[in-house]
Amino acid sequence: MAEEIPVIAIDGPGGSGKGVITYKLAAHLGFHILDSGALYRIIGLAARNHSVELDGEPALAELARTLDVRFEPTQDPEAPLRIMLEGADVTKALRTDDAARDASRVAPLAKVRESIGALQHSFRQFPGLVADGRDMGTVVFTDAVVKIYLTASAEARAERRYNQLKDKDIGVNLHDLFESIQARDERDMKRAVAPLKPAQDAYVIDSTALDIDQVFALVLSAVQEKLAAVKDKLG
Ligand code: DC
Repeated sequence: MAEEIPVIAIDGPGGSGKGVITYKLAAHLGFHILDSGALYRIIGLAARNHSVELDGEPALAELARTLDVRFEPTQDPEAPLRIMLEGADVTKALRTDDAARDASRVAPLAKVRESIGALQHSFRQFPGLVADGRDMGTVVFTDAVVKIYLTASAEARAERRYNQLKDKDIGVNLHDLFESIQARDERDMKRAVAPLKPAQDAYVIDSTALDIDQVFALVLSAVQEKLAAVKDKLG
């Protein structure tokens, strides 16, 4: 039964390091990955491909319900899944600022969120799932065995993003990044449907002053403790 398959929910604001932690944890445990943010990005892209308006809720929900999408594992920690939409590799296209902007327009729509419920649950496969998003522990997998809420100050997240983009020689301005991160937080936390917030039983980790290895060590010890407790209970 699907309920017996452990889910580890990793929620938090954009730029908090959820993607890397999800990948490392899934690789360590041999679990599957659900990148739920990618689903909203895919819906935005599919809407563009099919000339569906980004605020046309019923049409978007129908499109989301019938998505022809495949996730193929890769060995690349920066892009652990290759994403195929209607037969085309859209992995790179989904990481652009345009895709992020389109995703943030479709994500608040209740019918769109509902229509990918079954797709999200279909990722729950043996031996387990690490699910990355905003509402994994609060809405989609309320029975997750471990719920992590990973956060960091907006300043720290802007600085990390700045360094990533600078390394790639992409011209960026730290203040602009900070403002766009703040605006995204505001949109994610204040929306009416599935707002970003820690689940009541979440383990909250503030990574502002931690590096990725320190965060991973904290996450792993919380996960191992819970998984061991569940195993004991099942005998
Ligand atoms: O994590 P991300 O940047 O790929 O997310 C893209 C958008 O989707 C962002 O606006 C937040 C939204 N999102 C959401 O509403 N619920 C999720 N579970 C994951 C992402």
